[in-house]
Amino acid sequence: MDVTNLSQFTEQALTRSIFSLFEDRTRSENYTVSAAGLFLDYAKQNIIDSELAPLFTLAKQTGLAEKISAQFSGEQLNSTEQRAVLHTVLRAPDKIKVDVLGEQAEEVINTEAKMATIVDDIQSGKVCSVTGEKFTDILAIGIGGSYYGVKVALSALVPYHQKGLKAHVLANVDGDAAQEKFAKLNASTTLVVVISKTFSTQETLLNATIVKAWMLDALADSGTSPADIIANHWYAVSTNVKAATEFGIDENNILPMWDWVGGRFSLWSAVGLPLALIIGNTHFNALKAGAHAMDEHFKHADFEQNMPVIMALLGIWNRNGLGYPSLAILPYNHALRALPGYLQQTDMESNGKSVSIDGQTLNYLTAPVVFGQEGTNGQHAFMQLMHQSADIIPTDFILSLAPTSKHLANHDALVANCFAQSEALMQGKTLAQAKTELLNAGVNEAQANRLAAHKTMKGNTPSNTLLMERLDPHSLGALLALYEHKIFVQGVIWQVNSYDQWGVELGKQLGNEVLNVMSHPMAEIESEKLSSSSLGLIRRYKDNLNKV
Ligand code: F6P
Repeated sequence: MDVTNLSQFTEQALTRSIFSLFEDRTRSENYTVSAAGLFLDYAKQNIIDSELAPLFTLAKQTGLAEKISAQFSGEQLNSTEQRAVLHTVLRAPDKIKVDVLGEQAEEVINTEAKMATIVDDIQSGKVCSVTGEKFTDILAIGIGGSYYGVKVALSALVPYHQKGLKAHVLANVDGDAAQEKFAKLNASTTLVVVISKTFSTQETLLNATIVKAWMLDALADSGTSPADIIANHWYAVSTNVKAATEFGIDENNILPMWDWVGGRFSLWSAVGLPLALIIGNTHFNALKAGAHAMDEHFKHADFEQNMPVIMALLGIWNRNGLGYPSLAILPYNHALRALPGYLQQTDMESNGKSVSIDGQTLNYLTAPVVFGQEGTNGQHAFMQLMHQSADIIPTDFILSLAPTSKHLANHDALVANCFAQSEALMQGKTLAQAKTELLNAGVNEAQANRLAAHKTMKGNTPSNTLLMERLDPHSLGALLALYEHKIFVQGVIWQVNSYDQWGVELGKQLGNEVLNVMSHPMAEIESEKLSSSSLGLIRRYKDNLNKV
């Protein structure tokens, strides 16, 4: 059985209303699951027990249990790069590190200890800037998985930021992004962390180069040599120590990464250094503990009570059974506003593939298009489409029950909107209901007949509501691990390699070709590899440069 067989089970679902399923009074209680401090209500999904059963069977027949064991034990699941997938071991107790990593455990444990010491020394001022001042700002340079994890956690955990240190993240190659940082940073008290697993990513190297020039220029009169400025103010996190030292970073300030940690799963490694510098070791360890708690749940819970497995199977039901192409991530929480972007990479870069792990072309669809925005902002952006377009867009609502501010009336409104949107997306509004509402509002019959159709809502949009008691390092860790495991399960069932990302290579190759072509004089703008459209655009770019 594979996902193409699901259509035999979807006939009822495609014609029934989700709302009618609540005639089963036990539904709202049965379609929930708790794990690692999180609570998932999936009762608003368009599914019943007799449809869930074949999904669990599919999971079992796909060998999910064996794959979970293989992942946690370090088998090379990333077969196109001959790598293990062991980001989970980074948040496990040292004993598990030793059991799984063997000799390499010592390097991992020592790196964690070194990271903790750096955090303590920077926060205490024991390690300070070349001008003898405490560092006030941390500038993290990185992109993709070397950016999103730090970004989402820094945004989510503001109440846990230590006094005296501010964090800034620089990802985009657009010089405007760096310029924005220069405008607010004081080079003499800025510590830079370059994060790049390969230390070869064009955007990160270009940004590191201009930040280095900015800092050396700003500190030219500090009486300290450029080498000492970099040695004092710069750290790097990479597997490529050689390239990082060639860039000028002191080898003692380079924290290793390992090839068995995928970039988009690397927050738990020294990639998290900028975060740990800001929230401190205790809270960074709580983040990892939350993720580990979800790992333990994922490893040991029966599939029928396993939160990541249930979310994964519901996603496959919506994607491959009911044919819905998108997934909306709607955190009803300002502090989680970076989560949709983070999950775009984690989900779409992992499972946005159409070739199986064995290299066969798939005859079914895989990852949905993931998008989203924090609520309630999304209600004033794309909710119109979600309510009244013909497209049904499954949605994950994510909410902290406890407010993250003292404004309780605002929090009540936030919670009410979150619950109301999931209800409205499910219930919709029929033509008859719309007309009755209009008549009851005093609109005459003719006007009501004219407007009613415009006020109907399709409804029947399935959603999950994921609750945490409060947003703190532990619950954030559990949340991020939940989605990591959900994506893992979907990758297993879709039989794709969730841990490589060859799809980003062609754009990089052609980017280098365009850069090369652009470097020639206008009369020599030619390339066999580029269309006349792109060549025309390059000429227009170069022509405009002459005007600015
Ligand atoms: O997006 C492609 C990608 O390779 C991601 O997988 C990775 O997180 C990002 O680029 C940055 O790569 P690096 O950490 O090597 O700079």
